[in-house]
Amino acid sequence: MAVLVTGGAGYIGSHTAVSLHEAGREVVLLDNFSNSSSGAVEAVRALTTPDMAFIEADLRDGEALDGVFQRYDIDEVIHFAAFKAVGESVGRPLDYYDNNLGSTIGLAKAMVQHGVERLVFSSSCTVYGQPDTIPVTEAAPTGAESPYGWTKYMSEQILRDACESLPLNTILLRYFNPVGAHPEGTIGEDPNGIPNNLVPFVMQVAVGRLEKLRIFGSDYDTPDGTAVRDYIHVVDLAEGHVSALDALASESVGCTAVNLGTGVGSSVLEVVEAASRAVGTPIPYEIVDRRSGDIEKIWADPAHATAALGWTSTRDLDDMMRDHWNWQRSNPNGFAV
Ligand code: NAD
Ligand code: WQD
Repeated sequence: MAVLVTGGAGYIGSHTAVSLHEAGREVVLLDNFSNSSSGAVEAVRALTTPDMAFIEADLRDGEALDGVFQRYDIDEVIHFAAFKAVGESVGRPLDYYDNNLGSTIGLAKAMVQHGVERLVFSSSCTVYGQPDTIPVTEAAPTGAESPYGWTKYMSEQILRDACESLPLNTILLRYFNPVGAHPEGTIGEDPNGIPNNLVPFVMQVAVGRLEKLRIFGSDYDTPDGTAVRDYIHVVDLAEGHVSALDALASESVGCTAVNLGTGVGSSVLEVVEAASRAVGTPIPYEIVDRRSGDIEKIWADPAHATAALGWTSTRDLDDMMRDHWNWQRSNPNGFAV
């Protein structure tokens, strides 16, 4: 039996493939390389087994998907494949709804048709917006502020409805801010163009591809005035997926949401300081205006993840920066040769 990993060449999918292999699972990767490259697949195979199956396909291609379920003995699925850039989603809303909802619906239909009942879905803390109560629990109200965010909100609802009446069990994992890389430094985040996210931007400054960081706002109601997030090591996140599959295998959950965060909030300045320690030189930065749409502060209450999945994060901000820097330093241009 095997686990199908959609978006398996991407940042989180590639790390999860390694953790799944380490946990003794057979893995089938699927990706259309819309935001990744074959280099990631080769790097995952080098860390695991040269035999790891990979299918290049678009999840919205029903025939291709049917072929995957016919060819491989799949009994569980982790669904990472999606477009994920908040800003881009505002300018390309139809592409985001088409890709993210089309993929999720097509995949769920194929699973039901082939009798595959266990699904782990990549959701996001973006569904909480700025919560009234922090740390935020899964019971907090949800919504969205961008087309990207709505695709996560709507995918959650679609899967909740599907699990009500169809033979499907789903864990909706709400990730906080994944950063870091596998400690070997051979897989990691490889964003297209200028990074939108903080840590990839900081690391490209450190490696000399960008001149300096712009910190968006220092007048927030936080201890040092910069915005606070719950950064989580991507390997902790990957291990959370293994735990989620184990939980699905042991009981029928219906459809349930679980936060994957550390429970620790770090400010932008704290991240910059940790990155400077990892790199060994100060990261140059300037303070500029707030970025429109940003929230002030959020971090997870991870208690439900521990109770429901038996999972807890083990890596701290220094581990995240050390491993992210190790990847960036060894691969200054990402997977490009
Ligand atoms: P990523 O872009 O690195 O990986 C997604 C992968 O899916 C890419 O390799 C892309 O080529 C593939 N893909 C996209 N559409 C596809 C399609 N129609 N068919 C086949 N493959 C397709 O992103 P990531 O950071 O690894 O994120 C994985 C998931 O986690 C996404 O669903 C994302 O929304 C979610 N998420 C990410 C973050 C984050 O900060 N990275 C936070 C919360 C949630
Ligand atoms: C973190 C902090 C910025 C860049 C996004 C998505 C969210 C989720 C995770 C997918 C903020 C500040 C950033 C820079 C900066 N993804 N920053 N200078 O905004 O928490 O969340 O990724 O689901 O949906 O919105 O992450 O890494 O962009 O920003 O000062 O050049 O760093 O203002 O406070 P964010 P981020």
